[in-house]
Amino acid sequence: MKTTIVKISKDDIYNNDDLKKCADILANGGVGAFPTETVYGLGGNGLSPDAVKKIYSAKGRPSDNPLILHISSIDMLHTIANNINEKSRKLIDAFWPGALTLIFDKKDIVPFETSGGLDTVAVRFPSNEIAKELIRLSNVPIAAPSANLSGKPSPTRFSHVEHDLLNKVDFIIDGGSCQNGLESTIIDCTRPTPVILRPGCITIDMIETIIGDVELDKSLLTGDAKKALAPGMKYTHYSPKAEVIIVDSKNIPARINYLAQNTHNKKVGILCEQKNVHLYDNEKYVIQILNDANLYHALRKFDFLNTDIVYAEMLENSNDNLAIINRLSKSASFNIIN
Ligand code: TXA
Ligand code: MG
Repeated sequence: MKTTIVKISKDDIYNNDDLKKCADILANGGVGAFPTETVYGLGGNGLSPDAVKKIYSAKGRPSDNPLILHISSIDMLHTIANNINEKSRKLIDAFWPGALTLIFDKKDIVPFETSGGLDTVAVRFPSNEIAKELIRLSNVPIAAPSANLSGKPSPTRFSHVEHDLLNKVDFIIDGGSCQNGLESTIIDCTRPTPVILRPGCITIDMIETIIGDVELDKSLLTGDAKKALAPGMKYTHYSPKAEVIIVDSKNIPARINYLAQNTHNKKVGILCEQKNVHLYDNEKYVIQILNDANLYHALRKFDFLNTDIVYAEMLENSNDNLAIINRLSKSASFNIIN
C-alpha cells in the first residue's frame, strides 16, 4: 500500500480539498492517521468491522483491546451511546471538545469489533480543528487508537507516525506537533462511583470539581496491570529499546549522576526535568526533557540514538503529575529504584 502524505496548516483547514479526500477515504472504509490535541490517531469508520480490522492489523494490536470512537458533534454521540447519565452530561459540558474520553453503554450500531467485545463504548470529541473537520466531513464516528505500532510510544509528531505506519495506511495528515502529548483521560461514569481508567491531562481535581468524588483505577500506579479496568492498560506500552530505570531518592540528580558514572560500556540517556538539565553532562550522556509534551518524543529519540540505558527522574507525586508518572512507569516496566 502506498501512503498519501497530506500537509495541512492551521489556517487552511476549512474547504480544504485534501482534507475532504482524506474524509472520503475514511467514509469508504480506508484508514489514515491524523493529529489530535493529545496524540496522533489512526482512524477508520468505527461502524465498519472491516475498517476496524484494518486498524488493528496496521498497528499489530490485539483485537480484545477496544477502540475510542471520535465524534464531531453531540448529535453523533446519540447515534452510538445509550443511557447518558447526569454525571457524564456535566463532564461533557465542562470538557468537550477536549482530552476526555467517556465510557457509555453502546448502541447496537457499534460493532463488537470496535468495542473489543464489550457492551460499552469509549467516546471522545477532540478539540483539534483538523481532527474535528475530518470527522465532520467523513460523517461517521471515527475509531482511532494512537497511531503507533502496538507497544511503541504514542506518536506526538508527524515524523513518529511516518516512522511507524508509512505504507501501512492510506494517508497520514501532517498537522504539526500535538499540544498535550499524552493520551486523553478515560473515565467510566457507568459505575456508581465514576472511575478514572486512564489518567490524562484532564486531572482528577478538574473532574472532581465538576462531579464530586471519583476513584482512580489503582492498578495504574502499582503496575498490577493485569487488573486494569481499561483492557488496553494491561499491555506493554511505550517501550523504547533501551532499559528505562526511574530513580526516586532524596537527591535524584546526584543519584543519577552516580549511577551514570558507574555504568560502563553502555550508552546512557538521562530523562530529567527542565530545571535540572544543567546538572548533567550533555557531552557524556543523551539528555532529554521530561514533561507531558516531550515524553514520547524523548523515548523515541533515545531509540534513534541507540541509547542502551535511560535513567529517568521520578516526578513529585501529585494529581497533576499522575498521567506522566503512569506513562513513564509503564515505559520503565515499573522499574523504580532509590
Ligand atoms: O488521546 C487519546 O485518547 C488517543 C487519541 C488518538 O484520541 N487515543 C488513544 O487510543 O489513546 P488507544 O486505543 O491508544 O487507547 C484507548 C484506551 C485503551 O486502553 C482501551 O482499552 C480503552 O481506551 N478503552 C476503549 N474502550 C473501552 C471500554 N469500552 N471500556 C474500557 N476501556 C476502554
Ligand atoms: Mg495507544
